[in-house]
Amino acid sequence: MSITAIDIGAHSIKIIVAKDNKNQLINKAIEIPNKLGLVVPKNDQEILAFSEMIANLFHDYKLDQSDVRLSLPEYLVTSKVIEIPFLNEAELASAIGWQAEQAIPIPKNDLVLQYQVLQKPEKKTPNATMKVLLVGSRKSIVEKINNIFLNIGIEATILETQIFSIIRSLDILSSDPETIILQMGKSSNDIAVIANGMFEFVFNSKTGSSLIDGAIAQSFNLDIKQAEEYKINYGLDQSQMEGKLTQIISPVIDNLIIDLQKAIRFFTQNHPEQKIKRIVLSGGPAAMKGLTEKISQALGIEVLQVAPFAKAKGQIPEKNQLSFSVCMGLVARKL
Ligand SMILES: Nc1ncnc2c1ncn2[C@@H]1O[C@H](COP(=O)(O)OP(=O)(O)OP(=O)(O)O)[C@@H](O)[C@H]1O
Ligand SMILES: [Mg+2]
Repeated sequence: MSITAIDIGAHSIKIIVAKDNKNQLINKAIEIPNKLGLVVPKNDQEILAFSEMIANLFHDYKLDQSDVRLSLPEYLVTSKVIEIPFLNEAELASAIGWQAEQAIPIPKNDLVLQYQVLQKPEKKTPNATMKVLLVGSRKSIVEKINNIFLNIGIEATILETQIFSIIRSLDILSSDPETIILQMGKSSNDIAVIANGMFEFVFNSKTGSSLIDGAIAQSFNLDIKQAEEYKINYGLDQSQMEGKLTQIISPVIDNLIIDLQKAIRFFTQNHPEQKIKRIVLSGGPAAMKGLTEKISQALGIEVLQVAPFAKAKGQIPEKNQLSFSVCMGLVARKL
């Protein structure tokens, strides 16, 4: 028995096969391009091609099928923390549906709801409240993904949105400083805030790395693949190409910084006594040269990169480690 964690991204598919959820002993770390570029197939034709791609993966890499864990992109899901009067477990179970209807903009008949009590006083007092995390996902899409795997004989044990996997992989304590997690990808970025060891909220920022490829391709009249190579090789390194590349990339990063500022403002409005003290970058695009410095200078906040393999042993990948944080968080979850 082992765990197979799969993160299907628009750019590449990441897979970690690990012995169990505790020891972080890695048997395989795989990253292959997503040839279809699809994360969620839409029509029958796409479903067919997607299923074939997944079936081939399991076959080619001899992946263990006993505990397959899947990551869902954040946009399929709405996550919210609500504060409600103190309820016991049974009361909460019966009230939660109604609470979710108010908080989550997904029609009731398409909603799969998961919830978790984040904070609850020991005893019930007249004004006691508790904090509950609601995670609503679209049944139609989650079922579609589940069915694709079922049709090739695999029953996924966990489907989880990526931000929760990353939060787990970071092992944040309640004593840790207020933190923004910036999960970056080819198609978009997610900005999540964690304070007092708890998830606060997540925003989506439409500043995915493919925008940079597009901008470089257009300015230099290159194809997308070549443009991506420029981005990866030089990034925001001012000393390269007389700073021309930096000029092209900067507007996208400036928009990302604006979205980070919005998240910071939203957090301080709700917690005037607290301050975001650090930003943790994750995902492939987080490796861009000069990015941590640029964000840190713009916001005056410490910026660091995730280290998904800090405690891992075994077949740790040499390249693109930042892309694997979602898989490592999925692996760490208790069944
Ligand atoms: N050193 C680097 N500098 C800049 N960009 C990089 C670097 N390394 C990888 N990237 C970019 O990271 C992206 C791939 O990262 P990742 O695999 O995390 O994305 P994905 O999960 O496939 O996308 P998404 O999460 O949006 O579906 C690509 O756009 C790639 O060009
Ligand atoms: Mg991704």
